[in-house]
Amino acid sequence: MSDKKNIILGITGSIAAYKAVDIARRLMEEGAVVRVVMTGAACKFITPLTFESITGKPVLIDLFSDPFSHINLSKEARLLLIAPATANTINKLSCGIADDLFGNLWLTYEGTVIIAPAMNHRMYCHPSVQKSIRELKSSGVNFVGPVSGSLACGEEGEGRMAAVSTIVEAAIAALTPKDLSKQNILVTAGPTIEPIDPVRYISNRSSGKMGFAIAKAAARRGAKVTLISGPSSQMPPANISFVPVESASEMETAVLKYLPKATSVIMAAAVADFAPSTVNKSKFKKTEISAINLKKTPDILKKVGEKKGKRIVIGFAAETGKNIDNAKNKLKSKNLDLIVLNDISQKGAGFDVDTNIVTIIDNKGKITDYPLMKKIEVANIVLDRMMALKR
Ligand code: CTP
Repeated sequence: MSDKKNIILGITGSIAAYKAVDIARRLMEEGAVVRVVMTGAACKFITPLTFESITGKPVLIDLFSDPFSHINLSKEARLLLIAPATANTINKLSCGIADDLFGNLWLTYEGTVIIAPAMNHRMYCHPSVQKSIRELKSSGVNFVGPVSGSLACGEEGEGRMAAVSTIVEAAIAALTPKDLSKQNILVTAGPTIEPIDPVRYISNRSSGKMGFAIAKAAARRGAKVTLISGPSSQMPPANISFVPVESASEMETAVLKYLPKATSVIMAAAVADFAPSTVNKSKFKKTEISAINLKKTPDILKKVGEKKGKRIVIGFAAETGKNIDNAKNKLKSKNLDLIVLNDISQKGAGFDVDTNIVTIIDNKGKITDYPLMKKIEVANIVLDRMMALKR
């Protein structure tokens, strides 16, 4: 079996087949090599050419166009992802019916399988489908979804294919070694917002991307993750506990609540340092206000540092300029094990981008510079450094 993220994406005849285009594209963005296999019914909904254009590889449909394709393909693959999977396919797979390429491939494949069902809710609830799902689950097949919602037929119910992001995350997680399976990691992300009145607030610039990337990377590596985030447009991964908060004091309450169970804390949130001293109950008229009195917000990371015990505690320092001394002071005053410094004035390291350029400083004063990287790669480095301190 290859080390590469070789994935067979099996597509069957459901209207959700059009969403498989996005699944293929996103898997490739994650570094996967995707080979698409379609049933004849899937080709009625979407053409193989679409997938050939996306993956750059021929789509396999016909058992007889190449006599050994079902055997060769399954030897190379590390994951068989069937999305969407119809009732017919699920029933056929559970019985091992091999009357097409798909069924033959199924019988030769020995690796990890993820199935994302998509069908009408009455079909999904039918005893024959439920029996097949039970049997497949008991033989080790993983299921993602379906979810409840409006269905293509106009009815409502359980049968909608899970969100593309959930399916892709499950696929990548299935291919990622689980070196953090004993870890319980508390991550903070995003800005906090401190209300002035019901309409206005003060905040920090932050997209939340770095903290969400850490949560995602840790969950992929098998950790239990609690992500506490201020308002962010990022989608939390489905396989973590997500705690949305708004203000610094709400974030503090949540962090202190989840701290006892955590084995490590990574604070990537851009906590607002100041909040209005009083919050007006009604909206200020602009003529009524000439100055806002501010009070300091709690320094959450400092409190975590005081209570850290044996936990590894990691902070972030967003600075304008590579200000090593400031970062070192924060590391010391907050009793951290590591601090991740990023110079937000550098191109590719600022807000709302998918990349970062960081310098990591440890509590012995060792400084390591890293080049421009995707935030998910930075996340994995931070997690590697965290684990190195546990050894
Ligand atoms: N932090 C925190 N609570 C605060 C402020 C910051 O927990 N009220 C955390 C951040 O999540 C980050 C680290 O402390 O991990 C450093 O944050 P940063 O804003 O860079 O530093 P500050 O301590 O706020 O100092 P300054 O803004 O003066 O640079």
